[in-house]
Amino acid sequence: MSAIKILAFAGSTRTGSFNKKLIKIAAEGARGAGAEVTLIDLRDFPMPLYDGDLETESGLPENVKKLKQLMIAHQGFLISSPEYNSSIPGVLKNTIDWASREETDDEPPLVCFRGKAIGLMSASPGGLGGIRSLVTVRSILGNIGGYLLPEQISIPKAHEAFDENGALKDESKQKAVLDLGRKFAVFTQKLAV
Ligand code: FNR
Repeated sequence: MSAIKILAFAGSTRTGSFNKKLIKIAAEGARGAGAEVTLIDLRDFPMPLYDGDLETESGLPENVKKLKQLMIAHQGFLISSPEYNSSIPGVLKNTIDWASREETDDEPPLVCFRGKAIGLMSASPGGLGGIRSLVTVRSILGNIGGYLLPEQISIPKAHEAFDENGALKDESKQKAVLDLGRKFAVFTQKLAV
């Protein structure tokens, strides 16, 4: 059987994003378990704020179509989300909202999300590591047909947590994130058969 494909991204577009650093570690873990991981940056898929009039007049923006094709081609999504005001950042919610829209009348509903394996993590300079955002992200993605890995990891004090190579200074945390990536690859594989 061919390797399972996982799409990995952070819910932040910021260049120095802690969540971008974290997702790279989990992606490495998933690759270690044999998954083919595509790491993307949402900054490379700029899209307008969802607007029903825009959708009626012009259909889905090109970058939404591109991202949807990528999502369809992968069996699992690994996501590291920041926490904004105790919840999901706008960039991630806007991306999910656009991707949930049908491109054509005969496209199955929620084709990007239904039956996908989804693994979550978060990082924040705060003491809770952004865990409150994951409550919302988990709820949204579960409600639109995703199967969420129960385990998740949140990294507090993220501004002090990574070394200059992007690894977590705390070796036990580094191992835990690699393990989460590995576990997610196995979970995705199980769902895909
Ligand atoms: C934040 N931040 C934040 N952090 C947190 O732990 N709880 C929160 O509720 C918020 N709220 C919040 C709102 C807004 C509008 C911003 C811009 C930031 C701080 C946030 O965790 C920090 O900026 C992270 O560095 C964002 O993640 P990246 O970009 O490093 O991945």
